[in-house]
Amino acid sequence: MKPSILVLYYTQTGQLRNILDSIMSDITSVADIDYVSVEPVKPFPFPWKTVPFFDAMPETVQHIPIEIKPLPKEVMDKNYDLVIFGYQPWFLNPSQPITALLKGEFAKVFNNKPVITVIGCRNMWLHAQEKVKEYLEAANARLVGNIVLNDTNGNLVSLLTVIRWSFKGQKEASGMLPAAGVQDKDIFEAKRFGGTILKHLKEDNLINLQRDLQAQGAVNLLPGLVILERRGIKNFRKWAKFIREKGGPGDPNRIGRLLLFKRLLTVAVFILSPISSLTASIQLIINKNSLLKDVDYFKQLQFEKGRL
Ligand SMILES: Cc1cc2nc3c(=O)[nH]c(=O)nc-3n(C[C@H](O)[C@H](O)[C@H](O)COP(=O)(O)O)c2cc1C
Repeated sequence: MKPSILVLYYTQTGQLRNILDSIMSDITSVADIDYVSVEPVKPFPFPWKTVPFFDAMPETVQHIPIEIKPLPKEVMDKNYDLVIFGYQPWFLNPSQPITALLKGEFAKVFNNKPVITVIGCRNMWLHAQEKVKEYLEAANARLVGNIVLNDTNGNLVSLLTVIRWSFKGQKEASGMLPAAGVQDKDIFEAKRFGGTILKHLKEDNLINLQRDLQAQGAVNLLPGLVILERRGIKNFRKWAKFIREKGGPGDPNRIGRLLLFKRLLTVAVFILSPISSLTASIQLIINKNSLLKDVDYFKQLQFEKGRL
């Protein structure tokens, strides 16, 4: 009998669906695959306008769930052999639709199932994955794999292109800047993971899956990222609390604080970021061993609370 796989995901621009399609492309005829997307009741607009974009930060960081459409009953009841769970980080946390799924009644879909997470992002995903691990554990799922596809351009270039993409909707290259998002070549080559997943599933050997996915380059991670995410998440938490003192999503009373956050984030990203990278490099030399341990940890699947 063909193994049955649920591919569950959220995507705003379609990038994550493209990644998942590529991963599954070589195994579509040999597995029974259901694709199900998580849909917010009130979709997030794309391209974004400035205020709604920054207005999404506090609730994303504080994991306040939005309303999502119910997952189909037949999907909830079906006994899948594997769930492939595609998501993206927003503000260093799972995107709002994903948090809503993980915190709500439909998280039961993960109960007692092996899960592979697939992340499509700019380049900062560590904290989001720690949160997803925690929710999956609470949902009685077994994390058996993680595949990360990110934009491999330098930090500044990926920032400029993601801004062009998010606010103008333009993904294509223009002027000196390349196309935004995960490179097409990397999306195409993600098809190499499908066969590995199927092999482990058929041999009932999912316990060794991540080792083999990693050997195929499923997770590439620079140690400096650990330092930058640790710094970033602390600041986001403070700002989320500060902004929410003025009201909930869409409350005009909080626009002043949102715009202040936007200004400071812009300064942090474009002016402080090079300095921050320099201090991170120094920290890297001083704390090399402990950071290399961190890198090993983040490439693996185990969950230790408070690691980031
Ligand atoms: C509101 C928002 C915040 C984002 N924050 C991050 C982030 O913290 N780290 C990151 O690597 N990418 C971040 N991204 C990029 C997304 O992870 C993702 O790559 C992009 O939105 C395309 O995903 P899609 O499949 O939903 O279209 C963010 C995108 C949005 C819209």
